Parts: sequence; C-alpha cells; structure tokens
Amino acid sequence: MPDNSKIKKLIEKRAEARLGGGEKRIESQHKKGKMTARERIDMLLDDGSFEEFDMFVTHRTHSFGMQKNVFLSDGVVTGRGTIDGRIVFVYAQDFTVFGGSLSETYAQKICKIMDYAMKVGAPVIGLNDSGGARIQEGVRSLAGYAEIFQRNIMASGVVPQISAIMGPCAGGAVYSPALTDFIIMTEANSYMFVTGPKVVQTVTGEVISTENLGGASVHSTKSGVSHFLAKDDEECLLLTRKLMSYLPSNNMEDPPMLPPSDSFDRLGDVLNDLIPEDPNKPYNMLDVIHEIADDHEFFEVQRNYAQNIIVGFAHFNGRSVGIIANNPMNLAGVLDINASRKAARFVRFCDCFNIPLVTLVDVPGFLPGSNQEYGGIILHGAKLLFAYGEATVPKITVTLRKSYGGAHDVMSCKQLRGDLNYAWPSAEIAVMGAKGAVEVLEGRAIAKIEDEEERAKYAQKKEDEYVEEFANPYQAAQYGYIDDVIEPRNTRFRIIRALEALANKKEVNPPKKHSNIPL
Ligand code: HXC
Repeated sequence: MPDNSKIKKLIEKRAEARLGGGEKRIESQHKKGKMTARERIDMLLDDGSFEEFDMFVTHRTHSFGMQKNVFLSDGVVTGRGTIDGRIVFVYAQDFTVFGGSLSETYAQKICKIMDYAMKVGAPVIGLNDSGGARIQEGVRSLAGYAEIFQRNIMASGVVPQISAIMGPCAGGAVYSPALTDFIIMTEANSYMFVTGPKVVQTVTGEVISTENLGGASVHSTKSGVSHFLAKDDEECLLLTRKLMSYLPSNNMEDPPMLPPSDSFDRLGDVLNDLIPEDPNKPYNMLDVIHEIADDHEFFEVQRNYAQNIIVGFAHFNGRSVGIIANNPMNLAGVLDINASRKAARFVRFCDCFNIPLVTLVDVPGFLPGSNQEYGGIILHGAKLLFAYGEATVPKITVTLRKSYGGAHDVMSCKQLRGDLNYAWPSAEIAVMGAKGAVEVLEGRAIAKIEDEEERAKYAQKKEDEYVEEFANPYQAAQYGYIDDVIEPRNTRFRIIRALEALANKKEVNPPKKHSNIPL
C-alpha cells in the first residue's frame, strides 16, 4: 500500500489555510455583508482560474505572544488567475486574520505577485480590507508598506493597477491604492482616511463620523479619491471585471478589440436636432456619448465628482477609447480646478495604456473668481493642457458648440497635436462669447448712446456682427485648425474611420528622464 499520509497532510494544511481566521470570524465577516478574501477572488476571476501563491507563509513575530498565534497565509491571499481569459495578479486582504493587518511576510507576499506581474506584463488587482500596519510587527510593517509603495510607483504606467476598497483602509495604508490607477469603493463597508475620527477630534476638535470623514460617498463626490462606487462586494468585483475589458494588460499592448457588435455606419439622426437654438440652454452630453458609442454603452469614471466634465470608456467598432466631454448640464461645462484634475488624470491614464482619446467640446471657458485663483486654477488647468500636449495616442476632437478662449486650446486643439479635429455646424470657436466680446470692444461707444432703445439696438447689432464673423466653425476651418465641419448625425462613423486611420500612429516625445507636469 502506498503511504498517502503526506498527501493527506497537504490537503489538511490547504483546508486550514482556506479557513483563514476561523469559522467564527468568517461568520462575523458575512454578518457585515462582506465576503471573505477567497470568496472575493473566486467572484473576481474566471471560474477555476485561480492559482494561489504562498499559502503556507506565516508571520515571524514573537512579541505580544504572537508565536502562539499563527495562521497559514498570514492574512493575505495572493496569486494569479484570469479575467476573460487574460492573466491578472491579485491579492485579497483577509480581515479574519488579525483584521487583515499587514506584517512583514504579508508585504513580501504582495511584493512577490507585483514582481511577477511586472515580469510578465499583467495587471495587478488589490482587494483591500485591513486594519493597517500590524501593530505587533512595529517598524517592519511600515517597511513592508514602503516596499509595496515602491513597486506601485515602478508599475505605474507599465501595468494597470486597480484597488478595490471593501473594508477599512486607514493611515498610510491609503497610499498604496492612491498610487494605483483606479479605486473602487463599496458603499456599505469601505472607508479611507489618513487619520481616523478619534485622532481628528483630538488634534482639531472636529467631531465627525467615519462615514462622513472617509466613506465611499465622500470620496466619490467631494475628494475625487474614488473612481467608482459599488453597492456591495459583488458589484465591486463585477465593476472591476468590466473595467478590465477596456484596458490592455500592459503599456506595450493595445487594449483588446471586441468583436464589433454595432454597425459602424449607424447614423445618429437625433444629433442633428440636439443643440438648442439658445446658446445658453443646456443639453445632455451623455445623450451624445450614448448615441455615438457601440451599443450605446458608456462606462463612466468618477461619475459623481466634478460633473462639469465627463470622462469614461467606450468602444467604437470594437476599439476601446477614452472619452472626455464637457457637460453643459453642470456649471455650463466650464473648466474648474476639480474638472481639470479629473480630466488630466484620465487623459494621462489613457496615454500610458495606448487608449485613443475622443474629446467632445462644449466649453465656455475657465471658471472665474478668487476661489479658483487662490486654489491654483492656473496650475490645475495647466495639468490638463500638459496632459493633452504630452499625449501621443490618437487624439480626435469634435467641437459641438462653444470652444472659447484658453479652454479651446486646452481641450485637445489642433496645435496640441490633435490628430483629427472636427466641428459641428453649431460650433462657436472664438476668444469669447458675443456678449463679452462686445462689452470689451464696444463698451465705451455703447455707454455714450443716451437713448436706451438705441443703445440696446447698437449693442445687438454688434453682437450679431460678432456672431456672424466668429461664432461659427468656419473661421477655424479656414485656417485648417478644424479638419472638417461634419453633420452631427455622422459623428459615430467619422470617429470610427478616424480611429482606423490612426491605428498605426507613431509619435514620440523627446527623450527625457520624466516631464515636470505642474502639480
Ligand atoms: C493587529 C489588528 C489590527 C492591527 C485590527 N486588528 N487591526 N491586529 N494590528 N492594526 C485585529 C483586532 O485586534 C481583532 O483581533 C481583529 O483584528 C478584528 O478587529 P476588530 O477591532 O475586532 O474589528 P472591527 O470592530 O471591525 O474594527 C476594525 C478596525 C479596528 C476599525 C480596523 O480593528 C481598528 O481600529 N484597528 C486599528 C487600526 C489602526 O489604527 N491601524 C494602524 C493604522 S496606521 P481579534 O483577535 O480580536 O479578532 C497604519 C500605518 C500604515 O496602518 C503606514 C504605512 C506607511
């Protein structure tokens, strides 16, 4: 009879590791509406694709009686698997073991899969649910975090990095997710802050709840830290899978092509009647995006933050693109600090990962005022300008209506190496709107007219003259700053053709250590 005891031991050890911190703690995790680390990995990855690393790793601490307190896997489950058949590396913090807190060996496990991911050019997905630095490990835990941060930085722009926050994420631990490309937070159970409510109260006297300080809603609407808000663990993991479908595995690849599911020459007749007569009336830019994208589908990023600009992913004839669009429904689509930061980060992400940019413009300018100036709109606006100017991916711009002043330049104009710049007949590409322009140019002459009616008539005449000359796309088209004025209903197929024409675009920036983007 062969001796199977060694195999039996392996099976037992595996079962022990799979139990994490034990049945009771698993039950408590479920009671909070949270899945365990391994359940999350199973839901994230293709069925049966997970191969775990370092299941038998344990901590090496003796302080605080820790030598008697040992759990296989040491509070983090790491490994590789596939999403839609493509390799990804994943780690899931296991809250049932020491509250998911990070030890030296735990950090080494995460670093190992990050190193593998870099070696083979695959994304890294982190599922976070942790009490932070393992207190019993002291400074070794801090060093472990720093090892992870360094790898996050080296991987930035090389492989996509996604952080799902599904429980606590506090103290310096927030900085690993912050260094990654996307953060997804669950509504009920996640929070992120540098210092918790107790410390806040001690130091500043402010009394604030965990939710109001760093809950998912705060980071989705006020801080912009989170890119996606998920109802629960399941939605969070499905969102992560969906996000992956728009991304390449690394910076040397193009994003995956989907089999085209929508006809490339589908006309969008509704677009011909979309722009209101009154230039001050809004319309819904999301309607435009849904009309032109494959299957009317748009995967919006930071939906609830800086809503005056819209960013997100779509497919055009199966090709993944990043869309950046001013939103006339919110602050008339003006560019401000938050909108500039939001769009700049998105443009840079797409450029890192070979995702073409489609920019839909309807922008009345930058938001004026001391709040914006004191907050550094000069620097933040420059970020977006810099991001567009630096980007070498295919850049297609469609101007729908207003494109005024500095904001015209910023929003992927021709001179920022826009590859194909189109305008609808309703476009107004000018230094400013008619009213403002007439006030500057004719203010004195108008003030001199004593009769009120005559004054209004004169001002109107000058505005009409201005509109006739400048509030249209043809002056820009005359200089070649706009490549073509297109019928709105043709926008989808013009973009698709442009993307096809630009598929082999090669543009290289001058060699340098790195640029010095205004921060
Ligand atoms: C060791 C920890 C731990 C930690 C939790 N646990 N956090 N063990 N180190 N950091 C353990 C608890 O002792 C407990 O063990 C189990 O995890 C579950 O914790 P509970 O407190 O029972 O859970 P809950 O009530 O849900 O509260 C979760 C929590 C709380 C809010 C996260 O545990 C907490 O405040 N922990 C401390 C958080 C913290 O201050 N971390 C350091 C942050 S500074 P048993 O055995 O009872 O189940 C930091 C620096 C990083 O992280 C620096 C990077 C540069």
